[in-house]
Amino acid sequence: MKPGEPFFHRRAGELCVEDVALCTIAQAHGTPCYVYSRAALEAAYRSFDSALRGRAHLLCYAVKANSNLAILNLFARLGAGFDIVSGGELARVLAAGGRADRIVFSGVGKSENEIRSALQAGIKCFNVESESELERIDQIAGSMGRKALISIRVNPDIDARTHAHISTGKKESKFGIPCDHVGAAYRRAAELPHIEIVGIDCHIGSQVIDPAPLLDSMDRILGLADELAEQGVKLKHVSNGGGIGIQYRDEVAMDIGAYVRALSAKVGARDMELLLEPGRSLVGNAGVLVTRVEYLKEAGAKRFAVIDAAMNDLARPAIYGAWHEIVAVKSRSQPGLRYDIVGPVCESTDKLGEDRDLAIEQGDLLAILSAGAYGMAMASNYNTRPRSAEVLVDGDAIHLIRSRESIAELFAHERIIA
Ligand code: LLP
Repeated sequence: MKPGEPFFHRRAGELCVEDVALCTIAQAHGTPCYVYSRAALEAAYRSFDSALRGRAHLLCYAVKANSNLAILNLFARLGAGFDIVSGGELARVLAAGGRADRIVFSGVGKSENEIRSALQAGIKCFNVESESELERIDQIAGSMGRKALISIRVNPDIDARTHAHISTGKKESKFGIPCDHVGAAYRRAAELPHIEIVGIDCHIGSQVIDPAPLLDSMDRILGLADELAEQGVKLKHVSNGGGIGIQYRDEVAMDIGAYVRALSAKVGARDMELLLEPGRSLVGNAGVLVTRVEYLKEAGAKRFAVIDAAMNDLARPAIYGAWHEIVAVKSRSQPGLRYDIVGPVCESTDKLGEDRDLAIEQGDLLAILSAGAYGMAMASNYNTRPRSAEVLVDGDAIHLIRSRESIAELFAHERIIA
């Protein structure tokens, strides 16, 4: 199966999303353009949610993966909570109709203003990442006459066996509080007058393909929760973070139902709500980036397809050497040739794919698959390139959920001095 199937599929040789041909969207909204499938988003959410039926749980969608308001709103309507990492994400979730009391706030560098806004909104919990953050939250909550609900983010020193740039649970990493400091951190939290302890959490990394390290991290934090319970610290929830990998190429993605049922079995008879913070696994294969071939070019030993999308639109290949499947939107019968798929940005790393066999001509549309997570969310305006439009397809309906930026918007905040 190709990533994104069955929601992205071919009809008479043409790549479609649900009941809409991608070329229709390109005609209406131009390229590059991110296109998402509502059915794929909802199916991904339900694969977690239905496996946890009967167990108190909350799926806190990691907003950073794709923060478009329409997508946040869809998840909110399904009952999701949200994992945020900034005041900006807090504002987005609230603007999208998300419930504050279902928000968990992660991140090592929460500013005073961010903490204040989150307390004001009444979030479910701060995932505290250092002792100094704990003190700061207590002070701010005190100054506002409020109690802050907290969980300690544990760094379980577990190797997620993923790309080094997205591994977060080793002891060398900046994230969380090491296991051997966790007891002291909770004892301190219990002393602080404006703190209420509600949970424990961890997140060991992203694009994790083998469930074993994720299950190990769960054992570790449940062990800590049990030790705390013996000391009289009763936790209401446990969160194993996100990190569930998806298929980009030939990875065999883990069975979501089996994984979450295994987590649930580990919680067992403990009276604790189970939280998860999935990002990529909810949106990654629900989106593609549609782009047009501007030029075909032969130079030296290489043949290039120069497309109108670039590293500023989809940064993952340039940053992590990530592999995204690239397919022609319309199949052609001629034999394929081998191309490097490159963008217009003036950097050698502006390469979306290397040595790809494609039957294409100038002007053809391509789809870069598995682009729903960390695609638009990481897009930039490098080379003064307006960010793409985003479209959400629901059956045969095409909804523009973000219009393409205009060039004037890109320098609207700049001033020329005398
Ligand atoms: N919870 C926390 C505390 C996180 O830091 C993250 C992701 C998640 C949940 C969601 O993880 P997911 O389920 O998406 O794996 N830009 C990189 C990925 C960075 C992930 C950062 N943290 C990429 O494009 O691969």
